[in-house]
Amino acid sequence: MTSSEQKKLIRVTCAPRLVGYLQKEVEDLGYTVDSAGPTGIELAGTMRDAMRLNLFLRTAFNVLWPIDSFQCASPDELYKRTNALPWEEMISPDEYLSVVSSVNTPTIRDWRYASLKLKDAIVDRVASTMGRRPDAGPKREDFVVHLYWNGDRCQLFCNTSGRKLADRNYRKIPGKAPMQETLAACAILATGYDGSVPLVNPMCGSGTLAIEAALIASGRPPGLLRSNFGFMHHKAFDADAWNEMRREAKKIRNKGTIAPILATDIDPNAIWAAKKNAETAGVHHMIEFAECDFAETAVPPEKGIVVLNPEYGSRMGEEVELEKTYKRIGDFFKKSCPGWTGYIFTGNMTLAKKVGLKISRRIEFYNAKIDCRLLRYDLYEGTRRTDK
Ligand SMILES: C[S@@+](CC[C@H](N)C(=O)[O-])C[C@H]1O[C@@H](n2cnc3c(N)ncnc32)[C@H](O)[C@@H]1O
Repeated sequence: MTSSEQKKLIRVTCAPRLVGYLQKEVEDLGYTVDSAGPTGIELAGTMRDAMRLNLFLRTAFNVLWPIDSFQCASPDELYKRTNALPWEEMISPDEYLSVVSSVNTPTIRDWRYASLKLKDAIVDRVASTMGRRPDAGPKREDFVVHLYWNGDRCQLFCNTSGRKLADRNYRKIPGKAPMQETLAACAILATGYDGSVPLVNPMCGSGTLAIEAALIASGRPPGLLRSNFGFMHHKAFDADAWNEMRREAKKIRNKGTIAPILATDIDPNAIWAAKKNAETAGVHHMIEFAECDFAETAVPPEKGIVVLNPEYGSRMGEEVELEKTYKRIGDFFKKSCPGWTGYIFTGNMTLAKKVGLKISRRIEFYNAKIDCRLLRYDLYEGTRRTDK
């Protein structure tokens, strides 16, 4: 059995509150989830499975491939234990190494010291066995090692994603307060959207929600947009298997007709950025863009999903203005979207009350550290305002 066929317990991480969506994605790919925690899941798989997860997952941050796990009482012991591992079988001296640590142990106060010790142990080992040491630094893109040190237990992983999978590579122009791509994908998945009904996204900003919707509707794996992953820097990297996997993934197409996707924003710079980003993502032909006030959005006659991510307002004064905007969103839903399902993604429930319509579901998320909700409104004809 080659090392890429050996099964290990792969850990897939995600942002808090996304784990249910991640678990479903992993199961839809045909895997059995062994265990799930607040920020990730574990499943048995090979290095090829790790590559496949990197290619297909929309809601994951990192796919971690285990290297070792051991008891450890001090930074010196960490050096000793990890210097004894065969790093020369994993990393070439020509690669660039980064170490990321998460430390919760009384023996060490600063995670950076743990990273430094581990980095020294790896480069010293590679230097002594191969004659040269790899460059090391904070870039976290190529060969990335994760250390979790909890109490007296250390777990070491190779991060096969390298850079977080949230960085899809299409958002060249981020705009104001953009949503992280994994969160946007999750919000779209939470609406049940599959491309069969129209999707309207007023206040689109840099276009993340509309672009993720287009990727979901077309069935396009987000990993096709990236050319660099951590696993490519591992000595066991099977380039032929990866190229074959990409070729197969490119053939995936949604067989049904994809209903229109419409993205609008009042800011011409946002529309320009959203168009550029959609072009980079290869989905510009699937999205119609328009520059207008959200209330002027030309909602298509066929019923579908309308989703907005308005600003939440963090400064005094801003909120007064935003109260009017949220109330206008309620009016827009009521007047222009009867028969549709409306969604508002917000981190401000006081402002959300101003929408004045009955919420049928509250789905919990975090945006960075902000407690957020994706609020659902069933906009049947004659939906009543709750504030009357
Ligand atoms: C929080 S941002 C949306 C970010 C977006 N989800 C993304 O990922 O980039 C809110 C957007 O609403 C837009 N906006 C604010 N007031 C608006 C209005 N009255 N009509 C249309 N768009 C508006 C802003 O220009 C901004 O792009």
